Formats: sequence, structure tokens, C-alpha cells
Amino acid sequence: MPHLFSPLTIKSIEFKNRIVVSPMCEYSSADGFANDWHLVHLGAFAVGGASLVITEATAVSPEGRISPGDLGIWKDEHIEKLKQITDFIHQQGSVAGIQLAHAGRKASHDVPWQGSKQIRSDAAGGWKALAPSAIPFTDAEEAPQELDRAGIEKIKADFRAAAIRALEAGFKVIEIHGAHGYLIHEFYSPLSNQRTDDYGGTFENRIRLLLEITESIKEVWPADLPLFVRISSTDWTEGGWTADDSVALAKILKGKGIDLVDCSSGGNVAAAKIPLKPGYQVEFAEKVKKEAGVLTGAVGLITKSSQADEIIQTGQADMVLLAREMLRDPHFALRAAHELRHEAKWPVQYERAKW
Ligand SMILES: Cc1cc2nc3c(=O)[nH]c(=O)nc-3n(C[C@H](O)[C@H](O)[C@H](O)COP(=O)(O)O)c2cc1C
Repeated sequence: MPHLFSPLTIKSIEFKNRIVVSPMCEYSSADGFANDWHLVHLGAFAVGGASLVITEATAVSPEGRISPGDLGIWKDEHIEKLKQITDFIHQQGSVAGIQLAHAGRKASHDVPWQGSKQIRSDAAGGWKALAPSAIPFTDAEEAPQELDRAGIEKIKADFRAAAIRALEAGFKVIEIHGAHGYLIHEFYSPLSNQRTDDYGGTFENRIRLLLEITESIKEVWPADLPLFVRISSTDWTEGGWTADDSVALAKILKGKGIDLVDCSSGGNVAAAKIPLKPGYQVEFAEKVKKEAGVLTGAVGLITKSSQADEIIQTGQADMVLLAREMLRDPHFALRAAHELRHEAKWPVQYERAKW
């Protein structure tokens, strides 16, 4: 059997292969609600044979949205449609995961097809972004508001409440979004955190928010269900967060019961130079896996079945996450099975199309 198609059990969940749909914002919600777009978009990946389908960044509070179109899980009314989606994914033999997110200083922006510009807090539809320090992402942007102690407590409570709703909505995996320059990453990166209290300064202080969010989710998330964290493994910037910091963090996360560290990078420095090439972030998944002894996910320009199989086979990562290639081909996993000569189970409705 190709390594890409070897099952993986994490806690009580068996993943039928190592192919994961990486979170992808759709900016297609009103007031945080999922709708038929999300059902069809996410459902197609389950039909297409991925073992785990993770929702886009799903905001734990309205002010934690990147844009007014973000998916949300800050109120009980959000649960019903999400449950329909998870039920469908599970009927296809895939697993439904949710990425819980807070956008931090990158909140209150237009959707990409309207230019992704900041919506200033005094403009119609805008709101004041929250962050560890009052440092804007770019000089052109309005500065965020520095979170006070009560604000930090609210964020922890929001993640906890979101986890309760995620469980009710049928999700079996939570991924905490700690990457791409959003709130949690802003706290652990020295470039965006200039606090002088318990949440800033030293490495231990900067990772504190992530650890406390992890703990507050664990209070309500069943011990037999997987909990992942996505990190930005490096800021790609002098003086910023480094791959060695990621290893140190991953060791601590493992001790806190995190099952898998999904190793992305960047997003906190607008001008960072990122050396894009196929599999350009796999080295971080490999380093974190080997040096921290934790399961990892590799993501970023993984587009070929042979490439994905090799990452698993050579022990660079335990799962591969694909984003854009899944948009091009939601049936990537079925195609990969064919290319790697593995007999994957097809939806009966599609059997006549088997290669
Ligand atoms: C349309 C789109 C939306 C994205 N939204 C998210 C998101 O909500 N959360 C996240 O962690 N990453 C997000 N990403 C990043 C992807 O999950 C992935 O890490 C990145 O695209 C690199 O993988 P790829 O080369 O397979 O596309 C998004 C990427 C795309 C293309």
C-alpha cells in the first residue's frame, strides 16, 4: 500500500489516508453563517476521498473575523448548518475538522475580490481590530487596539465556547489557528508583541496565550478527539520567530496534549521574502517532527501524488495538507490512489468513472 494511503489513528479517530484538505477562507458567509456554498465546497472534498476536511478559519467572535464574509461559530444559531455539513462529510467516510480562529490585527478587511483593504473602524461595516500591541500590520493601516487583561480572558472564553459549539456541530477535529499573522501568531512573534506584562517579552510569555487557549479548549473538548495547532514555523524575517522556536513550542504543545502540529509559515510581516518552491514548508514539518517528537502536517505547494507519498514515506510528516490543488481537483485523493496504484473506495454513485 502506498504510504499516502496508510491509515492513521489519532486518539479515537481513524483517518483512512494522509490526505487533508487545508483550511481555505471562502469569505462567503453573512453574519458568520455557513450556507449551501460551504456544504458543496467542503462536501466535494469528502466525496473526493480526502481523509480529513478542515473548514476555513472560523471566527470565535465577530471582531475575530478577517472580513465581514468570514465563517463564524460565536453563537448557537451557527450550529445547525455546520451540523448538516459535518453529517455529509462523515457519510462519505471522511472526517470533519474545524479551524478555530481570531484574526487579531488583520481583522476588519474587505474580501479579496473587493481588494482585501482594511475597513477602518469608523467606516461603515468596519470595527476596531484587537492585538497584543498597537502595531499595525502595515504603516498604511489603522493601528489595532492593545488587548487588556479582560480582553485576553474574553478571547480564551470565546475559543472555549466555540469548541463546545464545534462538538455540538459534529466536528471530530479542532485545529487552533496559530499561524499567518493572526492573533495567536501575533502574540508569539516578537515582531508584533511588545507587551511588558505576562503575555510579552520572553518566549514563555509570548506563547502563553496559545497555551491558555489550548487549555480552555481542552476543558470542553473530549479527551478522545484530536486537537491540532497550525503554526507559522518561521517569520522569514531577521529578529522574528524561528524554526528552532517552533521546535521548542511544539515540545510544549505535545506536553499539553496537542496531537499534531501543522507547520505552515509566514504571514506576520508584509515584506517577508518567502522562497516559494514545491514543498517549501516541508522542512519545518520534518524538523518539528524529528526534534519535538510530535506528529506533524506538511503544507504548501504540495500538488502531486508522488510528492505527497514521498513526504509520508520518508517520514518528513504524518499528514499532507493541500489547499489550491484541492480547488483545482477536489477528487485529488481518488486520482492519487489511481496514480499510486491503490484501490481506494469510490462513492458508489461515481464507480462508473473509475480508472
Ligand atoms: C483560498 C485560500 C484560502 C485560505 N484560507 C486559509 C485559512 O482560512 N486558514 C489557514 O490556515 N490557511 C488558509 N489558507 C492557506 C492554505 O491553507 C495553505 O496553507 C496554503 O494555500 C499553501 O498550501 P497550497 O500550496 O496547497 O495552496 C488559504 C489558502 C487559500 C488558497
